Amino acid sequence: MRLPQETIRTKRDGLPLAPEEIRAFVAGLTDGTVGEGHAAAFAMAVFFRGLALPERVALTRAMAESGRVLTWDLPGPVLDKHSTGGIGDTVSLALAPMVAACGGYVPMISGRGLGHTGGTLDKLGSIPGYDAMPGLDAFRRTVRHVGCAIIGQTAELAPADRRLYAIRDVTGTVESLDLITASILSKKLAAGLDGLVMDVKHGSGAFMATLPEAQALAESIVTVAEGAGLRTAALITDMDAPLASAAGNAVEVAYAIDYLKGVTREPRFHAVTLALGAEMLVAGGLARHAAGAVERLEAVLASGRAAEAFAQMVATLGGPADLLDEPERHLPAAPVRRPVRQTGTVAGIATREIGLAVIELGGGRTRPEDVIDPRVGFTQLAGPGACDGLLGIVHAADEAAADRAEAALRAAYRMGAAPESRAPVLERVGAG
Ligand code: URA
Repeated sequence: MRLPQETIRTKRDGLPLAPEEIRAFVAGLTDGTVGEGHAAAFAMAVFFRGLALPERVALTRAMAESGRVLTWDLPGPVLDKHSTGGIGDTVSLALAPMVAACGGYVPMISGRGLGHTGGTLDKLGSIPGYDAMPGLDAFRRTVRHVGCAIIGQTAELAPADRRLYAIRDVTGTVESLDLITASILSKKLAAGLDGLVMDVKHGSGAFMATLPEAQALAESIVTVAEGAGLRTAALITDMDAPLASAAGNAVEVAYAIDYLKGVTREPRFHAVTLALGAEMLVAGGLARHAAGAVERLEAVLASGRAAEAFAQMVATLGGPADLLDEPERHLPAAPVRRPVRQTGTVAGIATREIGLAVIELGGGRTRPEDVIDPRVGFTQLAGPGACDGLLGIVHAADEAAADRAEAALRAAYRMGAAPESRAPVLERVGAG
């Protein structure tokens, strides 16, 4: 085996790595023979020198194969959606049961909040009794019987990524396009998917603030996924405003339930959810084209079958059997609710600031070990062009926290002339 330092030197000098050399390095990451210093230097060399497509594919595959790779024997396609993260992005909670109700199987492995963005795993944490770490056997059983299961990352899938990610997190190497691509896709390949749709967010609340950055990440993910044999498309979607009008944890679960029950159907959230769902159904052969897929998705919303799949998933994983009937009885509520009013028209939103305000309220973490408050956040957030005088409702643990959140919300909104409306789905990258 080549010494890890030789692999690092090769990349440091901008030379290509052979697939077997990458595999050996990843094997060392998994069994510990590659040390933390090696991994940090490797990540920094990749950050500066980049990886060519064959190297990216080799790294992705090697990390995917560093632990268990799931195989499924199911009567329908195994599909997933992954988002690069945003504010009010509670699409996963609605979409997984919608696709399940259409005949797909969705083994969704979700993460905690990252930076200013919320995490699906944290949102699920607000459902009493819901076990987001049920072990692989229960996960597989739930996917088989319900059609979808949303859980947290397990140590068994892609352990090399887990180790490298933790080292990247503290060595300034998270923002490498090549490493982000390999990190996301290694976990998806390990989950044994037949098809994937990526939601690459772009705008003031996204990690990819500029369109060229979002396009580069979408292209990278699609080409590497295809190179590793996973059918993938990416949609670049707008994150210049919160996607749902709710941002937080319990408030986003409540929003997703209202959406599935037809109580709420906000056009932007609905458009992005349907567009992502259509990609999944077409990739899995459950619909021939996007228009037919959208019809099927609308039908399972209207019939209540999507809501039923969500209810079954929650109950199977230990949550209340009547969560959908009586969400307010089960979801924790904040003691302080304060409407924030402002006359005028919303001209722009510093969306990232709203995510940071949720963290400040206690709905996210500033240190990995922090325990989050599931009750807090915002509801009825105004969108661009809104002029009804309400910026949003603060949900806070106490009056002092509500004061700070109110100030943050006011600062995040710019009033003035109504902006030009932006399409919720900006671009599509991928074959077909
Ligand atoms: N999400 C991941 O899983 N990995 C990254 O590198 C970035 C976001």
